[in-house]
Amino acid sequence: MRRVYLDHSATTPVDPRVVEALLPFLTAKFGNPSSVHFYGQEARAAVDRARREVAGLVGARPNEIVFTSGGTEANNLAVRGHCEQAADQGRHVITTAIEHSSVRGICEALERRDWEVTRLPVYGDGVVRVEDVRAALRPDTVLVTVMLANNEVGTVQPVAEIAALVRELREAGQKHLRLHTDAVQAAAGMRVDVDELGCDLLSLSAHKLYAPKGVGALYVRRGVRLAPQNIGGHQERERRGGTESVPLIVAFGEAARLTRVELEERTRRIRSLRERFETGVESRVADIVYNGDRARRLPGVSNISFRFIEGEGLLINLDMQGVAVSTGSACSSGSLEPSPVIRALGRDDELARGSIRFSLGKDTTEEEIDYVLEVLPRAVENLRRLSPLYQKAVGSRQYALRSGS
Ligand SMILES: Cc1ncc(COP(=O)(O)O)c(C=O)c1O
Repeated sequence: MRRVYLDHSATTPVDPRVVEALLPFLTAKFGNPSSVHFYGQEARAAVDRARREVAGLVGARPNEIVFTSGGTEANNLAVRGHCEQAADQGRHVITTAIEHSSVRGICEALERRDWEVTRLPVYGDGVVRVEDVRAALRPDTVLVTVMLANNEVGTVQPVAEIAALVRELREAGQKHLRLHTDAVQAAAGMRVDVDELGCDLLSLSAHKLYAPKGVGALYVRRGVRLAPQNIGGHQERERRGGTESVPLIVAFGEAARLTRVELEERTRRIRSLRERFETGVESRVADIVYNGDRARRLPGVSNISFRFIEGEGLLINLDMQGVAVSTGSACSSGSLEPSPVIRALGRDDELARGSIRFSLGKDTTEEEIDYVLEVLPRAVENLRRLSPLYQKAVGSRQYALRSGS
């Protein structure tokens, strides 16, 4: 059966060039970077090289990069690490209604420990308003955490403008106030530069960049102190104990290098394929609604609600024809609750349940898009034929046509 993978926001296939870079570190180059001998130094040099590449991807200095086990751990280290360390200065955090479940979960855990959390709305376009951030900031706010690009709808948030507000307050004396941004999705689809953004902390994950799962990084601006969350070793300049996963870090370094070099070309191709996809869907399927601002979003994401049907049903139907997509975020699928992100856009239950995320990648082809355009309309039609909601709507439309209303 033909297979088309349109779920790159969940994870990406590992680039063969990345595999090639990592393989020697699973065999001959097995040293522990903390060892003094040749094997250790060989591993240390490889980790340092990877650190330079990851730093280069986001315009940071190498010693501002802390390797972690992925985006979730980077988010934990950023939010918990900063909040624990700044608790004496204030116990208020500002976040948004559409953060990834890792940030959402940490904020809930903070609330259970008597922190106050303000969750900003995102309105119909899926974008936070800078004015809302300004209004939410208080003298006891120690952290603002706003993702750079959303994992379900791909909308890009005004992080640089928010950073300007944070800087203003810091300069006025609120020294412990920091800005964290989760750039796990953004890094694959847009230029990310920590100085242009003006953030203090920024999370990355390798498996969204064509490297394996289980490795990520937190950018920590020089001078920002964090309470380590992994205690027990001197690694990562005391910020994250534990022997480094050298093969995964090397893979991440190579993936970061390739992303930096190829980003422009990748995003240009992906954007034009998405246009082909969306134009095709619009001309073949009625009663669809796009979720999130269509201009201010990552180039590879298209999140569409199909009226009158359940996204889960459509996902399964497409999967049977070899097309992989997702409903909600991968980590929350399996739950029948409508996606909190789509709900935060103000969608009703029906539209929230009928939403599907198509996410394209660097190796997606025109033929693959055309195949999806062939099977998707049929799948939607079959499901709608079985949907009582649809039958009712069609009936009342025909009635309206006949009665001329
Ligand atoms: C926006 C965002 N943040 C964080 C994560 C978690 O990253 P990881 O899977 O590396 O833990 C994800 C993964 O889906 C994500 O999309």
